[in-house]
Amino acid sequence: MSTKDHLIIFDTTLRDGEQSPGASMTRDEKVRIAKALEKLKVDVIEAGFPIASPGDFEGVKAVAAVIKDCRVCGLARALDKDIDRAGEALAGAVAGRIHTFIATSPIHMEKKLGMTPDQVLEQAVHAVKRARRFTDDVEFSPEDAGRSEIDFLCRILEAVIAAGARTVNIPDTVGYNIPDQFGSLIRTLRERVVNADQAIFSVHCHNDLGLATANSLAAVRNGARQVECTINGLGERAGNAALEEVVMAVRTRQDLFDCNVRLDTTQIVPCSRLVSSITGFPVQPNKAVVGANAFAHEAGIHQDGVLKNRETYEIMRAQEVGWNANRMVLGKHSGRNALRSRLLELGVVLSSEEELNAAFSRFKDLADKKHDIYDEDLQALVSDANLDAAKERVKLVSLRVCSETGEVPNAAVVLQFDGEERTGTATGGGPVDATFKAIESIVNSGTVLKLYSVNAITSGTDAQGEVTVRLEKGGRIVNGQGADTDIVIASAKAYINACNKILHAVERAHPQIGDV
Ligand code: KIV
Ligand code: ZN
Repeated sequence: MSTKDHLIIFDTTLRDGEQSPGASMTRDEKVRIAKALEKLKVDVIEAGFPIASPGDFEGVKAVAAVIKDCRVCGLARALDKDIDRAGEALAGAVAGRIHTFIATSPIHMEKKLGMTPDQVLEQAVHAVKRARRFTDDVEFSPEDAGRSEIDFLCRILEAVIAAGARTVNIPDTVGYNIPDQFGSLIRTLRERVVNADQAIFSVHCHNDLGLATANSLAAVRNGARQVECTINGLGERAGNAALEEVVMAVRTRQDLFDCNVRLDTTQIVPCSRLVSSITGFPVQPNKAVVGANAFAHEAGIHQDGVLKNRETYEIMRAQEVGWNANRMVLGKHSGRNALRSRLLELGVVLSSEEELNAAFSRFKDLADKKHDIYDEDLQALVSDANLDAAKERVKLVSLRVCSETGEVPNAAVVLQFDGEERTGTATGGGPVDATFKAIESIVNSGTVLKLYSVNAITSGTDAQGEVTVRLEKGGRIVNGQGADTDIVIASAKAYINACNKILHAVERAHPQIGDV
């Protein structure tokens, strides 16, 4: 039996990941990702920031209601109203955690909070005690710890542990730290905080200098026993430490770590795909572990070596992280039950026969156009259909596009807008441009197009194109996705999907911006 410590993997894809502009998720999308994380066997799922908006509250509540094998956490500033709201959202969880935080760096305390260190300390202690009224499992973070003064950090950590915090998390909020320095910060804190043995030390690293994984690992080598991370490294600005990198580094280099993780790593790639398809953030091909090229050997000399002995150029097995794990193929002759059970395995629960029928009819349409239907196609099929139909104010009825050498491309689109069928036409620089203008002539969303990208979901010329459209309006950013074997239709679906989100966007508070 292993005598190694357990390294707690705290996934914050649904909270810090969701804070990255354009990555916001609906309640149902959060539940789907949470179920995939449960299958991956992460220890803690930070499901959101319940005070931010009614939607965030519902998201955390829904995740808390369905997840049985992971702890579910809600974020709260060190304020009574935040903590009470988090406690309420987590009431149905099998195991819940409240994560409360307040900034401790001189610049944040002075310029953002306008508070003295003593006031910050007092509020932190009060927040932890209040959170303990709801649960025994309370985590405290001194925000911007990476730029805080060590003496003050020691004082506040000792005080919050005495007040009942069971995890103390050290965030490098702005990604400023360097591995050996961050590692020694963790070591020093563990040595100097007198009651350090009564809490688990955790780290939460941002990737502004590309060091989030390295900093997290340096911290683990110096005694941190929880790492906060996100799938695909999603997160504010340059993102958070990537879960797949941290986990595979610890697994692969067991010679260097005196702890291990409990994850089922074969679920890493399916999780990565799901997060990418829901948020519309593509994974770069050369991304460690989950990038399409992570296990591809192009150079002849490498291929030759791998064929002779895989370990010449591979330090992990592709199957170990879930490549090829979920490539079961469905096709034209697959029935409703095959579809239902494959979707279930992918974490998609269709709640009624009607939903199954709708998904099945989309599946049949797709199978007419495409011979083999892969898991990626199914993910796209359900995320396409996933937006609550009742909330879709705009629906695509039909689209006709003409594109011919020497002619100006033009598009005619028929939409159902608030139940009424309307037609719009436009010309454009290309068929996609003409289509977007035709849609805009009906919807008048007043948005600015920030990003347009097309990805082939699988290989082959009959592959579905998955289009992401990012729209911005008055500082709000949304992503829309659409998939189809015809990329102009996929583009129209993505644009309409984004319009529906912008038409429903509600104001949300950001946890780290504004006054406490
Ligand atoms: O980056 C950060 O400091 C955070 C805290 C809320 C933990 O996300
Ligand atoms: Zn963060």
